[in-house]
Amino acid sequence: MINALRGMKDLLSTQIEKYDYFIKNASDIALNFGFEHIETPILEEMALFKRSVGESSDIVGKEMYEFIDKGNNNICLRPEGTAGVVRSFIQNKYDRIAGVKRFFYHGAMFRYERPQKGRLREFHQFGVECFGESNPYEDINIILLLKEILDFFKIEYTLKINSLGCEKCLPPFKENLVKFLGDIEDGLCDDCKRRIRTNPIRVFDCKNKSCQELLLDAPRLGVSLCDECSKSFNFIKNFLLEANIKYEVDSNLVRGLDYYTKTAFEFVSTEIGAQNAVAGGGRYDKLVKFLDGRDTPGIGFAIGIERILNLINLPKTEKSGYYFGAMDENAISLVYKLGVKKRKQERVEIAYNPKSLKAHLKTADKKGMRYCAVIGENELKNHQVWIKDLVKKEEFLKNIEEF
Ligand code: HAM
Repeated sequence: MINALRGMKDLLSTQIEKYDYFIKNASDIALNFGFEHIETPILEEMALFKRSVGESSDIVGKEMYEFIDKGNNNICLRPEGTAGVVRSFIQNKYDRIAGVKRFFYHGAMFRYERPQKGRLREFHQFGVECFGESNPYEDINIILLLKEILDFFKIEYTLKINSLGCEKCLPPFKENLVKFLGDIEDGLCDDCKRRIRTNPIRVFDCKNKSCQELLLDAPRLGVSLCDECSKSFNFIKNFLLEANIKYEVDSNLVRGLDYYTKTAFEFVSTEIGAQNAVAGGGRYDKLVKFLDGRDTPGIGFAIGIERILNLINLPKTEKSGYYFGAMDENAISLVYKLGVKKRKQERVEIAYNPKSLKAHLKTADKKGMRYCAVIGENELKNHQVWIKDLVKKEEFLKNIEEF
């Protein structure tokens, strides 16, 4: 027997119903916020992620599904959606048009991680990206959009925010941090030792207790922000406070992707186990330029759909549609033709084999159909269909022509 690959799952039955229900409603909310749909390829050049997510990140360093294709190109399955959308934004020359562009997307992402609850190797994200708006109102807008989606599905969360600074305040901070880390290097884990040289601020994300203890006295970015970053971070915090949106400032929140600047945030849930981030995002004001586009600010988020599926309650569905069945071999072709016609108007199920009335009624009910339409020997003779409304529990006969 061949099974699905480790860390990859089929979405079946209620899971896929919840998935579709989520995509439909999250998309509608994003459309209301002025975002348009975009889908980018699942395969991209490996270089795209090396330059955006960053070679020093775990995602690019350890978790890529990377290979050489038949044309000798170094390609990979996308581990996240932002880089592809930025690539498309530049390739389609939107960076040359003045104004703001907003996109939403959903689809499969791939990371070769160690699978566990809430952590898959193929998972799905719903994400949004906004280009060309540096006003902190957009940071708030993005957080409000994410909040509105989670609120729609009645998902409880804690909002954690931080500011990662900009090209002005981040480099001196990093220098300071590297000096500090140099002094405590011997006590740090191998990953953190490597991070000192590749991306020092990532040490704050280390889950190792002894590293965290050593980092208690480390310099913090929050107090080293330049005036502009500090002003915009304060503006966002004040807005959230006034709007009564609870948040926590988490100075350890540095995100696992290298492209972030200024605002970074995560929505975490206590209801989904150790992998508790439901969604994450932030600003990436230098990424478009870094990928050879015109200097354009960007900000976005992505929700991990599998992490919230079990928290979603489907609305109760009403019975609907027609079930068609024959009680006699000779009635099958007529039943089939009627079913095909009715299918142009509503949901239809057609049984191809003759069965007893009781058996047809049972199947129609199991399939959630509103009407069970059956033709037996008598109905065939009289050119009629016997119909039962399974909601009102009423039975009636209809002429075939009239039907
Ligand atoms: P991320 O934090 O890497 O950000 O992923 C976003 C969300 O995807 C996570 O919060 C989590 O819910 C889900 N996720 C990540 N890895 C897995 C996994 N292995 N299994 C299941 N779910 C997972 C990004 O991907 C950025 N592109 C978000 C963004 C958009 N930033 C700006 N724009």
